Amino acid sequence: MNVLITGGAGYIGSHTCLELLLKKANVFVYDNLSNSNVKSLVLVEELARNKVGFYKGDIRNCYELSSFISSNMIDCVVHFAGLKSVGESNSDPVKYYDNNVSGTISLLKAMERCKVKKLVFSSSATVYGTPNELPISEAAPTSTINPYGQSKLLVEKILADVAKADSDWKIANLRYFNPAGAHPSGLIGEDPKDIPNNIMPYVSQVAVGKLEKLSIFGGDYNTPDGTGVRDYIHVTDLAKGHLAALNYLNSSQACGFSSFNLGTGKGVSVLELIKAFEKASGKNIPFDIVARRQGDVAACYADPTKANKVLGWKAELDIERICQDAWRWQVNNPTGY
Ligand code: NAD
Ligand code: WQD
Repeated sequence: MNVLITGGAGYIGSHTCLELLLKKANVFVYDNLSNSNVKSLVLVEELARNKVGFYKGDIRNCYELSSFISSNMIDCVVHFAGLKSVGESNSDPVKYYDNNVSGTISLLKAMERCKVKKLVFSSSATVYGTPNELPISEAAPTSTINPYGQSKLLVEKILADVAKADSDWKIANLRYFNPAGAHPSGLIGEDPKDIPNNIMPYVSQVAVGKLEKLSIFGGDYNTPDGTGVRDYIHVTDLAKGHLAALNYLNSSQACGFSSFNLGTGKGVSVLELIKAFEKASGKNIPFDIVARRQGDVAACYADPTKANKVLGWKAELDIERICQDAWRWQVNNPTGY
């Protein structure tokens, strides 16, 4: 199987490339390296003892992308390429709609041209907005409050329309909850370019002494300890979810456009996460409780039953393992790649 991975040099993409190579797939990465380092792929090759076909390019260049797809005889695509900072999407919405929405349209055109019609898309639990019910199932209503989330929801709608118009398309829309952790080797992991927005890399950098202390955004939520609750999913479990989705697309079971929650089903509070990280690292994590962050919800965790049943996939690793692996990556690579 020849798989195109857009954005494959990034955090989730590199872990997915590794799992695919370990299963003997032929992996072809197309990435403009706008938020990644090609060293991740060198390390993936080392871990897998196998090669990745890499091309530095932007998915919005439909001509180049089409020729990459046809010259490598691609069978299916996993589409990670996109921008993911909620804050930046508020200050520069056009950049987000252009990259995430126009980029996906360009990819769809290239795939049509090359008659490749199997696609796995990286969506996000952000499309559920403020949930009415917990855990969140795929049938829950969707809504978004920032251009990043809006770009994911727009792409979901476009993909559903594409599959509706042409029954040859098979599309697995994966809604990730909170990806975290790193490969247990400590060789690949998340490498934020600036001060991290997400909690796990922030806590890692506090533990290693790069940042002074964590600000906990809100201690007065209606949650067991007052802090925000999320469904942290180990990036290796997440990567394996993509393999399960590709197997599903290659089966007779696959039909049109389907959404799947990729989460553990378990909510973890900020204070619980800090405790698990302190245990894993042996370091103290100083924190202050400050005002809530605008746009945050109190609690968000998945009902992963559909992915369990239809994809035959289940998250195996808990918050302790996530913290241990995040810490190993942080200690081994204090300045990233
Ligand atoms: P990442 O930034 O590490 O990886 C994205 C990759 O895409 C990077 O290597 C970047 O260089 C590349 N890229 C961006 N725009 C491109 C373009 N126009 N052409 C070619 N390459 C381009 O992010 P990640 O955390 O690995 O996320 C991967 C996907 O999963 C994204 O679409 C993101 O929105 C989605 N997602 C991420 C999270 C999360 O918390 N990490 C949660 C839900 C969904
Ligand atoms: C987790 C919890 C914060 C930082 C975001 C995006 C979402 C998805 C995943 C891409 C919350 C608290 C955080 C800090 C804190 N990305 N926190 N101090 O907000 O659930 O989701 O990343 O699709 O779209 O919105 O993740 O890691 O930022 O926050 O107290 O310095 O940690 O309030 O309760 P979030 P997060």
